Amino acid sequence: MSLNPPEHTEQRRALRDAFGKQTLQRLTAPIRDTTGELLDQLEDALTEGPRADFVHTSDQLPISVVGRWLGLPARDFDRLHQLTREHTYAQELFPTPRRLEQADLASGELQAYFAAIVADRRACPRDDVISNWLTLWDTVVPNRPAADVTVRRMAMFSLMAGLETTAALLASSVRLLAQHPEQARLLRSHPEHTSALVDEALRFDPPVQVISRVAPRDMTLAGVRIAAGQVAYLLIGAAQHDPTVHERPDIFDVRRPGRRHLAFGAGAHYCIGAGLARTMAIQFVEALLRRLPSLYLPSPPLWESRVAFRRMESLPIAWRRPGREG
Ligand code: HEM
Repeated sequence: MSLNPPEHTEQRRALRDAFGKQTLQRLTAPIRDTTGELLDQLEDALTEGPRADFVHTSDQLPISVVGRWLGLPARDFDRLHQLTREHTYAQELFPTPRRLEQADLASGELQAYFAAIVADRRACPRDDVISNWLTLWDTVVPNRPAADVTVRRMAMFSLMAGLETTAALLASSVRLLAQHPEQARLLRSHPEHTSALVDEALRFDPPVQVISRVAPRDMTLAGVRIAAGQVAYLLIGAAQHDPTVHERPDIFDVRRPGRRHLAFGAGAHYCIGAGLARTMAIQFVEALLRRLPSLYLPSPPLWESRVAFRRMESLPIAWRRPGREG
């Protein structure tokens, strides 16, 4: 994300196949299976107690899918998820010194982890994404240590970019459905509109609220002067509630015409994992609406004190079993 052409163009090209249609097709079955297991666990939790915390569920799907796609051992998933969470604070607007220190430690551990994985794939190549990136990158840079560093960064960044964001999308989709039961009913009878729900959730409550750029030269952007070297913060969350662009922007409506939003960014750095994130969210929500209709929020969610990466710390949910619906 912090690269410019030509390095950015080269690395993005190297990543393209790994995020292509074939990958999405290959991942459909693992996404379906993991979704099934997570919904079994959620149903058990809702059967045993009056409520469950949906954040436990939404956190697990992305690490399981992205971790498997990268060929990482399942025993490492919990730790990787924890480190990614801690690292995200490095990109917050107002992190406390303690959060920054934690983010720094997490970054060091993630780098060491992926350096070991890359060294392992060098020694024993497999049919996996990281081994394939190494083969490809060796043809681009004839210097193996430099190729190893680039592949380590690509793998680490792909993991970090995909977890918090997708988990937040799953949680916000479920929160919004629970708060709008008439729209949940519509989707249950018309599951083909689930992708519209995912796009409306991305517009209404984007997981990445702020992105930034450094001005390469003095410029004027939307009437604002920005000097060379200054950082510009672009507020995606606010842009998506701009009434001159979106009619009645503060109304959540899966029937909203058009699906314009900036939740995956725009231009050269447009999210390369957008297709994967959408696939996970659509499959998950479709299955959830089939298996656990009539979810509701017994108490309001608890939000983390963050700005750039919006996220719920807990999302209590409860279930009105079929037959008991009022
Ligand atoms: C709902 C889920 C997701 C959201 C909201 C999201 C959001 C974004 C945004 C806003 C950007 C552009 C940042 C900028 O321009 O500064 C971006 C870039 C990126 N995302 Fe995602 N993302 C999601 C899921 C994923 C997943 C699942 C992956 C990979 C497994 C991923 C990998 C990437 C990568 C590699 C980039 C950098 C692309 C580049 O610089 O060319 N993202 N994402």
